[in-house]
Amino acid sequence: MNTQGLLAEIAEQLGHPVSDKLAVALREVPRHRFLPETVWVRDGQGGYRPIDRAADPGEWMAAAYEDQTLVTQFSDGLPSSSASMPSMVLRMLQLANVAPPGWTQQQPFKVVEFGTGTGFNAALLCALLGQGRVTTVELDPVLAEQGERNLEATGYAPAVVVGDAGKGWPDSAPYALVLSTFSVDQVPPAWLAQTIPGGRIVTPWTSSWCCYGTLALTISASGTAEGRFHDFASFMPMRPSIEETTPHGDHGQAAPILEVRSVTEVSPWAVAGGDLDAEFHLGLTVTGAFFSWDTTGEHVPVRLRVGDTTSTSWATVDFDGIHTTEFTVTQAGPRQLWTEIAVAYRTWESNGRPGVGRHGLTVHSDGGHTLWLDSPDHPLT
Ligand SMILES: C[S@@+](CC[C@H](N)C(=O)[O-])C[C@H]1O[C@@H](n2cnc3c(N)ncnc32)[C@H](O)[C@@H]1O
Repeated sequence: MNTQGLLAEIAEQLGHPVSDKLAVALREVPRHRFLPETVWVRDGQGGYRPIDRAADPGEWMAAAYEDQTLVTQFSDGLPSSSASMPSMVLRMLQLANVAPPGWTQQQPFKVVEFGTGTGFNAALLCALLGQGRVTTVELDPVLAEQGERNLEATGYAPAVVVGDAGKGWPDSAPYALVLSTFSVDQVPPAWLAQTIPGGRIVTPWTSSWCCYGTLALTISASGTAEGRFHDFASFMPMRPSIEETTPHGDHGQAAPILEVRSVTEVSPWAVAGGDLDAEFHLGLTVTGAFFSWDTTGEHVPVRLRVGDTTSTSWATVDFDGIHTTEFTVTQAGPRQLWTEIAVAYRTWESNGRPGVGRHGLTVHSDGGHTLWLDSPDHPLT
């Protein structure tokens, strides 16, 4: 095991040395003792390959101390739990400002982690704050039990509970810190209600357009939460609880809908070609929209398909293989999806192509979200 090597890799990712406090915690918590016998890593071809402890103990141990995400569970063919990338874990703990100057071990603050997974992050919280302060909530009972066993075996005993983090965990609230280790596209109102004024909510972000960014909010005396997005993290999304598992959006029997054709000068690659800043902005502002590329050449050389999780609306944007400044658009349904995307893209451009870190969010105590650019007095409509 080589925590020193891992610390060096993390420092490189962060762009600065790991703080003494976090380095001590990382040295104290042996990551390999939180991992199952088989973990999966990316295979470089869009899939995953297993690393099995019995088959290759050396590779398994080395993987535990590299700065990479290790998938620990798949559901329906997709990763559903993982040991998060250590540099991401530390970035989030930095954002959470865990135990900032002025807080003492004597102060009666509590923290909650949503998404126990392996228990590794909960152990770090215990090492940093003292285990009496830490509650960790996991939706999947099998994972919760395994996470609790890993914690016990390494000498940590936070409260591990099975529950749906969408409802928070009122039993041990209020918290000075809510730390989510899955991504959300809305901040559940329960998280605000269960956090004390001055407390922090830190969560990875996702949208149906783009899974990226981490949001760090501070609760005000009036119960609103405000803060900025930060330029890292792509985490698996929050799972709905079983009773809430209904299909997303209205994909039922759709009435025939009128298709409207037009021409756009906004390139499909500009909005969906990998520019994270643009895609992050579009995901925030055109809620529900998602995309896929059709490069089969069946209809036209390249087609961008856009759908909507909230309605039957759709759009296609076609590149004819020749014209690079004009593209044919077809759209249908209650939303003019491409029109919304093109307007949002032009807004992003006219604001100087803002990066993730210029975006912020105010969450009101009634659950309403107001997005802003640079400061809360510059709302994004
Ligand atoms: C990236 S993994 C967590 C990593 C973990 N913190 C660690 O240190 O290993 C995300 C976890 O969130 C859990 N999760 C997803 N949706 C949830 C929900 N609604 N309530 C509670 N846990 C949830 C998943 O089951 C998964 O174990």
